[in-house]
Amino acid sequence: MITLEDLNPKLLQAQYAVRGPIVQRAQEMEAAGKKVIYCNIGNPQALKQRPLTFLRQALSLLEYPELLDSPRVLETFSRDIVTRVRKALERHPHGTGAYSQSPGIPFIRQAVADFITKRDGIPADRDRIILTDGASKGAQAVLMALLRSSQDGVLIPIPQYPLYSATLALYGGRQIGYYLDEENGWQLDEHILRASVEKAGRAGTRPVAIVVINPGNPTGSVLSRDNIEMIVHFAREHRLSIIADEVYQENVYDRSASFHSFARVMEEMRERDTTLFSLHSVSKGFLGECGHRGGYLEIRNVPEEVNAQFIKLQSISLCANVSGQFATYFMVAPPEPGEESYPLYVREREAILAALKRKAEILGEGVNRIPGMSLDKPQGAMYGFVRFELPPEQGIDPLSLPPEDRKMYEAGRDEAYCMALLEQTGICVVPGSGFGQRAGTLHFRTTFLPPQEEIEDLVQKLKVFHEHYTRTLQEA
Ligand SMILES: Cc1ncc(COP(=O)(O)O)c(C=O)c1O
Repeated sequence: MITLEDLNPKLLQAQYAVRGPIVQRAQEMEAAGKKVIYCNIGNPQALKQRPLTFLRQALSLLEYPELLDSPRVLETFSRDIVTRVRKALERHPHGTGAYSQSPGIPFIRQAVADFITKRDGIPADRDRIILTDGASKGAQAVLMALLRSSQDGVLIPIPQYPLYSATLALYGGRQIGYYLDEENGWQLDEHILRASVEKAGRAGTRPVAIVVINPGNPTGSVLSRDNIEMIVHFAREHRLSIIADEVYQENVYDRSASFHSFARVMEEMRERDTTLFSLHSVSKGFLGECGHRGGYLEIRNVPEEVNAQFIKLQSISLCANVSGQFATYFMVAPPEPGEESYPLYVREREAILAALKRKAEILGEGVNRIPGMSLDKPQGAMYGFVRFELPPEQGIDPLSLPPEDRKMYEAGRDEAYCMALLEQTGICVVPGSGFGQRAGTLHFRTTFLPPQEEIEDLVQKLKVFHEHYTRTLQEA
């Protein structure tokens, strides 16, 4: 039998906190009959968000096309959905059970290109779009392709969604962390970016790309247009490709903020020399179809032979799952006004987005009322990155520790805090150290996806727990 020593050390090194030991403990508690509020992961339908009727009707017909010929089909399915699925099957007669072309079904890639053109008012080319198994696979393909040597590094935000750090660990690339500016709504700061690149250079690291997550996970922030322009200038100056993770583009709640795609900003800047990889997904927004594993990667500003390599890479695993490709199709080509399914589609979409906005407000306002806790009210995405203070521990001065030891010590503190929160309240959140955080600060990430009453309950329980936890530390 093989042991851990037989495994690829890069796998052993990769960390993915969102499903780490705290979640394992939560599952044990649940199995023992305790109520757990899962706020650890952006998995909307696991937290009672209902799927859109339109999307599920369309997918059902696609999976079982015999229904299209049933004389009673219109008793259950909207007429426009029946017509749409018939047309889709005329264009793709093999249905969902056969492999598709490697980059994805051509008419769906065209629909994605049309969606980008409609969203941004810019041209888009279906041959620069690859349909992927969720955004994760798109991000991994890009990182895989860009890392040429063990000296190559990628700028990733701190805090960041751990897909990026874990994938860099798997592929043997170096992480070049850049701090997001908590005091400035978690925007990117040019001085910090410069300092990160210079530090990487001193360590012999060659930066090849920058990852930007907008709207942000775990921060819930939305980047301003000016900030994006600054990032594009910076990437150009340092010859970095941009990996724009835009999976939360529909999740913007704050009226003062808007989503600006990198594709659009770069097009408006007439930027032709910097390569852009942008990612989108069916998992987030108001669809929340995480289980369908659909998404796309759009590539801009690369020569044809480079594009061909990305298609080859995709072809090595044949193609993205075909049901996920169709879920992506229904995301980018939703019902139109005048169609039978349109009014319900709009009602469901608006209800989901309005509930998310309300819950972001309840979380933001509630947390900021707790002494010793603060939160930049989430403008977008599905998360709040809550900062909390703990009294110093007797006999320990973290400032006297070497940086790595201090990091470990602080990670231990926020993990212990989150584990105690779980044990005492049933609330499952992820320690800030799983995403990265500035030395001397402590955070946890929580989603605001559970139903409103559970978010209200969560805020109450947090307050009681935090007071009790800090008092116990003071008395120790
Ligand atoms: C920023 C970000 N990118 C990518 C993903 C993964 O998305 P997908 O389900 O499409 O792979 C997530 C999931 O939470 C995410 O938060």
